[in-house]
Amino acid sequence: MNQQLALDVQDLGYSYRTGRLETPVLTGVDLMVEQGEFVAIMGPSGSGKSTLLNCIAGLDTPQNGRIAVSGVAIHELDETDRTLFRREQIGFVYQDYGLIESLDARANIELPMRMSRRVMDPHWLNQLAHATGIVHYLARRPAQLSGGQQQRVAITRALMTRPKLVIADEPTGALDTRTSAAVLTLLRECVDDLGQTIVMVTHDPVAASYSDSVILLVDGHVEDRIKAPRAETIAEHLAKLEAATDP
Ligand SMILES: Nc1ncnc2c1ncn2[C@@H]1O[C@H](COP(=O)(O)OP(=O)(O)OP(=O)(O)O)[C@@H](O)[C@H]1O
Ligand SMILES: [Mg+2]
Repeated sequence: MNQQLALDVQDLGYSYRTGRLETPVLTGVDLMVEQGEFVAIMGPSGSGKSTLLNCIAGLDTPQNGRIAVSGVAIHELDETDRTLFRREQIGFVYQDYGLIESLDARANIELPMRMSRRVMDPHWLNQLAHATGIVHYLARRPAQLSGGQQQRVAITRALMTRPKLVIADEPTGALDTRTSAAVLTLLRECVDDLGQTIVMVTHDPVAASYSDSVILLVDGHVEDRIKAPRAETIAEHLAKLEAATDP
């Protein structure tokens, strides 16, 4: 394991089990992400992107392979240490946001800070809320917010603790072009100014063009890696991929 890497995934294998049936989802994923790198993961629906993110964050346990986050083999930690590690080191933006319905947006954003008993930083919260455009919604509960507003609360929550590694599952999926650009600029700044590492799943070539490299996940393995991607180049790769996989 390379100690310098923010993320080192080797030969990762994951299958879902339903009864006796075993469905392989990840079949030998290798992925190396350096500290301060912004990586986008793309691939067809059902190709295992969310499963990969869940494994990286230690939420799902792979049957094969190894994952090291900042040199720590996350699946070798016991449940308690893994939870603590995740809390301290990882910010996760879930595909379905995962906000707590009974708490308003501000309390949702503050929750990871409380859980890890950190001193609250209202200035940082305010700065993030400005960047994601949710300052006027902080007193509202999730049910009183649109999908895109909830998504921006989830992003703000993930960044609040200044995690070393930010994992984001389609973080701009519910956003319009303008708010999407604001969020992606913020993520880019997190990498450039704070040295954070980001692994982001997206279906949008424009969103992916904010990253340093795009990983194409196909049939449970990494098919290709595009460095310094332009949106047009990414779109071309995706079109080729779709043509090749058409039934
Ligand atoms: N809990 C589960 N039990 C059984 N199979 C599952 C479960 N969750 C996901 N799968 C299957 O695993 C495969 C990968 O799912 P995953 O959610 O990782 O895909 P994805 O690439 O994130 O797709 P999308 O782009 O639609 O979000 C899919 O075929 C899905 O049906
Ligand atoms: Mg998914």
